[in-house]
Amino acid sequence: MVDVKPEIRSGLEGVYFMESAICKVDGANGRLYYYGYPIEELASKSNFEEVSYLLMNGKLPTRSELESFRERMRDARYIPDEVANLIIELSGRSTPMHILSTAMDMIGALKGERSESNSTYIDIISELSSVVAAIGSISAKKGYIPPKDSLGHIENFLYMLSGEIPDKESVEIMDKMFILHAEHSSNASTFSAIVTASTLSDIYSSIVSAINTLKGPLHGGADEMALRMLADLRGKNIPKYVDDTIASGGRIMGFGHRVYKSYDPRATIIKGILESVQSRASEEVRELTKTVLSLEGVMTDKLSSKGIWPNVDLFTGPVYRYLGIPPDLFTPIFAASRAPGWCSHIQEYWKSNRLLRPTVFYTGEVGKKYIEMDKR
Ligand code: SDX
Repeated sequence: MVDVKPEIRSGLEGVYFMESAICKVDGANGRLYYYGYPIEELASKSNFEEVSYLLMNGKLPTRSELESFRERMRDARYIPDEVANLIIELSGRSTPMHILSTAMDMIGALKGERSESNSTYIDIISELSSVVAAIGSISAKKGYIPPKDSLGHIENFLYMLSGEIPDKESVEIMDKMFILHAEHSSNASTFSAIVTASTLSDIYSSIVSAINTLKGPLHGGADEMALRMLADLRGKNIPKYVDDTIASGGRIMGFGHRVYKSYDPRATIIKGILESVQSRASEEVRELTKTVLSLEGVMTDKLSSKGIWPNVDLFTGPVYRYLGIPPDLFTPIFAASRAPGWCSHIQEYWKSNRLLRPTVFYTGEVGKKYIEMDKR
């Protein structure tokens, strides 16, 4: 008997697998909300620590709640010596994303699954930033720079990266970038974290799954790829590049989205940041900006009618270059800023956990006779 072929949604497009109150992505209208708060409000009025509290608690904190949350985050900034040594050992031999996932797995291994509790989420949000900063400072031959208690989360992140107390503008920009990347509903890396969590594996393992999923160029890895494309396109024929890429079935990095069929609201804000720093920017950043704006114009003419617009990863690279950050650290920084989103979804899923286990429609044969080796 032949099974009736069910409807198969390629890439799980449009498939609902749970209810969630954390984040609304309104793809038709290009709107984004964390627990109901519009992203524009959060990016202009809030800060990463407060947004992390919001994502973990579903409400904005009072002054004292935020202060104790900040203290907890501050205490969790220190990474074990073994992990700092591991980063030193792997630096230059592996990619920053590989080092990041290995280091986070090692922190989980050193702590042990049985010690996990609700406060593990805060540990992870802090540790991820410290590990990323350590990967950056070690790769820049500055060694491991221990955290400074007197600094806020973002200031400390930039300090651990460079060894210098950052200026106000850099902190403000990086804070916004962290807020904009903090959460995005059931994206691939968050889904991956939830799949691992659904087996009742531990929180660190779920986060490591998410990190490894974020890395791919169709997802978080697109920020680095988009920057490299923009650098390559300098002075080249952009319409021809777009035509050739589309004709060969390729994708233009930093454009298109599974849910947004309009301009990604995060891209609007990041583009605004990039435009606002032009007068102080280096020649490299000004050239990248010219290229990205020309590319956007070409893509709008050719593909906006198909719902393909800039996504969060298009303007991120030039902004990070303005802050002096090397391209191979862009995706690790995406991971550090996405930590509260991942943690929030694991926490929510575990409130009514069920193993995630979808089904495939089998198209092979059954009942074949086993053939002995010398008769094949
Ligand atoms: C992130 O899900 C999230 O929320 C993710 C994220 C988050 O915050 O977590 O928002 C972060 O991952 C942003 C996306 C980063 N990726 C890129 O910038 C890579 C380039 N973009 C694409 O590869 C693509 O748009 C995806 C992967 C983002 C979405 O892919 P889909 O939904 O699977 O769409 P598809 O590849 O099947 O393309 C559908 C059509 C095709 O045309 P047709 O064959 O139907 O004629 O749209 C075209 C594609 O050719 N298309 C593109 C394109 N994106 C889609 N054509 C050229 N360039 C592109 N970038």
